Amino acid sequence: MPMQPQERIAQLKKERNAVILAHNYQLPEVQDVADFVGDSLGLAMQASKTEADVIVFCGVDFMAQSAKVLNPDKTVLHPDVNARCPMAAMCDPSGIRMLKKDFPRAEVVTYVNTSAECKAESDICCTSSNAVKVVNSLESDLIIFTPDENLANYVQRSTDKDVLPWPGYCPTHDAISLEKIQKLKDKYPDAAVVVHPECRPEVIDNADAVRSTEGMLNFVRESPKTEFIIGTEKEMLHRLHKEFPDRQFYAVPGAVCPTMKLITLNNIITSLELMGPEITLSPEIMAKARAPLERMMAVGRGD
Ligand code: 13P
Ligand code: SF4
Repeated sequence: MPMQPQERIAQLKKERNAVILAHNYQLPEVQDVADFVGDSLGLAMQASKTEADVIVFCGVDFMAQSAKVLNPDKTVLHPDVNARCPMAAMCDPSGIRMLKKDFPRAEVVTYVNTSAECKAESDICCTSSNAVKVVNSLESDLIIFTPDENLANYVQRSTDKDVLPWPGYCPTHDAISLEKIQKLKDKYPDAAVVVHPECRPEVIDNADAVRSTEGMLNFVRESPKTEFIIGTEKEMLHRLHKEFPDRQFYAVPGAVCPTMKLITLNNIITSLELMGPEITLSPEIMAKARAPLERMMAVGRGD
């Protein structure tokens, strides 16, 4: 009988002393072979403490890059180089340098959904879990916030500081309209609505809770409700169903991040066999990007 992909992955993991890290938006079968599944903050923290020689990163480019920045001496494999975050591609380091010149007293907070080069220009990074906590931890009362305008607007409502947003957005979350949420609410009137802070302001204003993907699991765990409308990428429902089999979850139609789906069991196998594609970054960029990432992790979770 031919070997199942899951068995082959287990075999290769042992041979290579590899760990598999997967984001909550990965395909269900990829989540199921991972050693750790989580949000961007959890994955960065996990990457920073692994003892494996090889990290197979099942997520998009910026997440795999952060794992490399935190582990410059380890091999970080990214099974499909085309798995890129379009929001991360909307930001560039020269633009951040110009803003720093225009607003010299501002501190730069860069959402992890950016290239290592953008992180290298920043004072501190944040994730959707701790964006408010990170901004409020800073000295300056003026914050340059890149690259998600929706997240920047969300942060602005929870801080006395002035937040200058970069005009980027996540196409997947920006397409989660109030109309789509309202249709689900009409169908499931008892459901709580929990949305990601990358959603549009009017969606956030009408939600019961705003959470990172990992924070959504914490919210459900603590909620007396049994039904939930989930305002984020559809694969989040895989972990929710797995951890809370007695509760009901409803996805927003069309909420799909296509590049997250490029990682498959087959390309995980190929990457472990060939030890590539590998994430490579210049030592200078890694050294400059590490400090803002470590500063972010020291702030810890916000949800
Ligand atoms: P989380 O850190 O909440 O998992 O979000 C990452 C992301 O890319 C959301 O679109
Ligand atoms: Fe990027 Fe949006 Fe996909 Fe998250 S869901 S990885 S922000 S495109």
